[in-house]
Amino acid sequence: MDTPLPDYLTEVLDTCGGDDGGELAAYIPELAEADPDRLALALCMLDGVVYAVGDTDARFSIQSISKPFAYALALADHGLDAVVEKVGVEPSGEAFNEISLEVGSGRPFNPMINAGAITVHSLLDDERVRAGFSAFAGRDLEVDEEILGSELETADRNYAIAYMLRNHGVIDADPRAAVAGYVRQCSYLVGVEDLAVMAATLANGGVQPVTGERVVERWVARQALSVMTTCGMYDAAGDWFTSVGIPAKSGVSGGLIGALPGKGGFSAFSPRLDGHGNSVRGVQVFERLSSDMGMHVL
Ligand code: DON
Repeated sequence: MDTPLPDYLTEVLDTCGGDDGGELAAYIPELAEADPDRLALALCMLDGVVYAVGDTDARFSIQSISKPFAYALALADHGLDAVVEKVGVEPSGEAFNEISLEVGSGRPFNPMINAGAITVHSLLDDERVRAGFSAFAGRDLEVDEEILGSELETADRNYAIAYMLRNHGVIDADPRAAVAGYVRQCSYLVGVEDLAVMAATLANGGVQPVTGERVVERWVARQALSVMTTCGMYDAAGDWFTSVGIPAKSGVSGGLIGALPGKGGFSAFSPRLDGHGNSVRGVQVFERLSSDMGMHVL
């Protein structure tokens, strides 16, 4: 590519910026207030150089993009066998907020859907999540208490999931406390640069490329990326992998990350979502990057 990288990234945003399709995530009242037009893109190379263009000052809640990082922390603390005993690694083929539990055991299908993420969160405490997420980002992250409060007012689906999990003995905690902790995990404020660096840490085998800190072991990063590959885009995971071809994770506030192992971390932010809960313009940005930069891993 002859064009300087920042100019190229700006051009990608300009070409994807015209699409006003999709809807804000109205089921969380605070997210329905977001500016739908904001659009940003960032890229973190494994030498720690970060490029960011568009609305790079936008701060938004991490939402489901927290899930692979919480999963990584749980794997690091408890080991693979103990975590897999609680949460599987198979795609559910269903929406993120379905009660997708294995018949009989009640084990959630994977850690990327809400049932799996609530279970993973029950293996951690709030301080471990705060410190761990901050290590991935390379700066102290903070919770947006208003978003947290807003989501808890309308969290009936997640409460239902948590009650089912306790009914099956998958979690021991009080279901309401389990959901409060999980929603807190989803309410950390980030920008596209944070997300690109966090994704790059997984792409770099667990070493944060800016701070140089080993945040998790290599096998943990590989396990988190593997589950992102098969389950990170929910019931659009097949479409995503065939068209973009890298491990990824989306969130309902409009964030999207992709990790290209051994190469770098990518992120996009645009709040309007498609029917799967994935950012419409974020997906377009990644499709364009993948085709121009030959990112598809196959
Ligand atoms: O639990 C929820 O519904 C939200 N806190 C997170 C969902 C989410 O981000 C799904 N991703 N696209």
